[in-house]
Amino acid sequence: MITVGIVGMGVIGTHIAKAIANGIHGITLSGVTVRTATTAGGFPAFSMNELIQRSDVVVEAATQAALREFGPAVLAAGRDLMVLSVGGLVGVLDEWATLADAHGARILVPSGAIAGLDGMKGAREGAITSVTMETRKPPRGLAGAPYIVQQRIDLDAIEAETLIFEGAAAEAVKAFPANVNVVAALSLAGIGPERTRIKIFAVPGQERNQHRILIEGEFGRLRIEVENVPSENPRTGKLSYLSAIAMLRERGAVVRVGN
Ligand SMILES: NC(=O)c1ccc[n+]([C@@H]2O[C@H](COP(=O)([O-])OP(=O)(O)OC[C@H]3O[C@@H](n4cnc5c(N)ncnc54)[C@H](O)[C@@H]3O)[C@@H](O)[C@H]2O)c1
Repeated sequence: MITVGIVGMGVIGTHIAKAIANGIHGITLSGVTVRTATTAGGFPAFSMNELIQRSDVVVEAATQAALREFGPAVLAAGRDLMVLSVGGLVGVLDEWATLADAHGARILVPSGAIAGLDGMKGAREGAITSVTMETRKPPRGLAGAPYIVQQRIDLDAIEAETLIFEGAAAEAVKAFPANVNVVAALSLAGIGPERTRIKIFAVPGQERNQHRILIEGEFGRLRIEVENVPSENPRTGKLSYLSAIAMLRERGAVVRVGN
């Protein structure tokens, strides 16, 4: 059995814990780490160090800041680290990969709220000319982001589709740490955070979080469009945790289909 520990019991962590508790072949829950005991949701809670000792895989479902704090300790202990706050890997991935390699650990990034990383990985084996992404979210899905606060953008005053941000994935993950992990995953699977571009739009009245991705290169052209139903957290689409559960299921499974 592969033992899985979860850090952060918000929307994603809770759904993953429940899925494991409901039964995933070859996988068992070792416990969770939370900031306050009341959020453990009835699952056994441990300190970070204890959770690492008890787990083969530690799932980060907290924040970029938390990931940066405990990620190296997980890898140094030779445990695999599954990352949801993917933007937190931008800038440290090479260093962490070296650490993981030295201790026989792996860093796992689920596709999360997007699709198409299988095609991106194939495309990357040849030359890629551009990767661009357009994200459209209801204004409340961008609330609280550092960029919105710093630029004093009044989301309530937006009445029509509005371009809020345009730039490299490397900048976007700092400007919107809880909103655009998907572009971080896209960039890490492809041509990197500096060359991957994103536009973020606020769209009043839109119910779903929409991502449109265009990859162009030697292989041809790949267009992907995803419309995500938000979870209990308006910033997080349901596909985010479903994707993480699927990745865990695959770790314990005998048959594997697709990359
Ligand atoms: N990869 C993707 O496609 C994708 C999609 C959506 C969200 N995310 C990211 O996944 C993360 C979790 O998302 P969510 O919707 O579950 O958020 P959430 O706000 O519902 O839950 C996060 C939880 O982590 C807890 N937490 C924060 N720091 C902690 C720490 N140091 N130790 C233990 N617990 C801690 C919080 O108290 C909270 O309960 C966020 O960073 C989010 O941006 C990734």
